[in-house]
Amino acid sequence: MSTETIERSIEDGAQAPGHRGSPSHHVVVEGALDLSHNVILYLEDISVSFDGFKALNKLSLAIDAGELRCIIGPNGAGKTTMMDVITGKTRPDEGKAFFGQTIDLTRLTEPEIAHAGIGRKFQKPTIFGDHTVFENLELAMKADKRVRRTLFASLRDEDRDRIQAVLKRIRLETQADRIAGLLSHGQKQWLEIGMLLMQEPRLLLLDEPVAGMTDEETERTAELFVSLAGSHSLVVVEHDMSFVEALGGKVTVLHEGSVLAEGDLATVQEDSRVIEVYLGR
Ligand SMILES: Nc1ncnc2c1ncn2[C@@H]1O[C@H](COP(=O)(O)OP(=O)(O)OP(=O)(O)O)[C@@H](O)[C@H]1O
Ligand SMILES: [Mg+2]
Repeated sequence: MSTETIERSIEDGAQAPGHRGSPSHHVVVEGALDLSHNVILYLEDISVSFDGFKALNKLSLAIDAGELRCIIGPNGAGKTTMMDVITGKTRPDEGKAFFGQTIDLTRLTEPEIAHAGIGRKFQKPTIFGDHTVFENLELAMKADKRVRRTLFASLRDEDRDRIQAVLKRIRLETQADRIAGLLSHGQKQWLEIGMLLMQEPRLLLLDEPVAGMTDEETERTAELFVSLAGSHSLVVVEHDMSFVEALGGKVTVLHEGSVLAEGDLATVQEDSRVIEVYLGR
């Protein structure tokens, strides 16, 4: 049999009844993440009002792909509201919000935004306290990969490897079989970050992730975030300046719903306006 014949019979086989869908192995994802300009998140002139009070006031911000950005600023500056806008929880009154070049966040629902690759960690861990650490990570994955799992049962080993890799990353390898409710506060926070990672987000939003942690847990969390940067983009809201310093990234200072200053920590710490509204308190 010539090579040509073999190829043709494979083609014929692919077109046999019951296999009509099989040639399309690559699925077209509508609005796939376009990082062609190296910007993963772009906010322009975002405003949000609550009963006439402007929580965000023409806020503009751009986060590079792989960046680890810290957002600081006084209470009520609009930091959490900004995350609410990015995740679709709050609709802006005006302004643009793009994930990559093409995904318009203002037109998507919260689940659609999560599915597109934006993961958010709230301050309070929302883990399943009655399940083991391992099961928590498994559950986080199932919610996302249900379709793939039922189609290809052989992915199980691969899934197990992914869970192991995440366990290692969040430093809970030795706690895999422990009931999650019994973990320390810091370990619960890491587990929740691990649950986010199981969904393979491209951008992670973390609101006050080290609040209530011990100094050692805080240091380890900084190491974790630094290790995630590059393969992920991170936007971290924090009041703990030693933690912000340990992260080492660019810092954006929010005040009254807009950007007051931006740069490395040392630079913004010397800014007299920043000292006046925030650091000098
Ligand atoms: N759903 C809401 N309804 C009314 N006002 C709100 C709502 N959400 C936020 N605000 C107000 O908007 C302002 C910004 O709040 P936001 O929570 O974004 O601040 P923050 O920078 O996260 O502060 P903190 O450092 O205290 O967490 C605050 O004055 C707050 O009271
Ligand atoms: Mg807040």
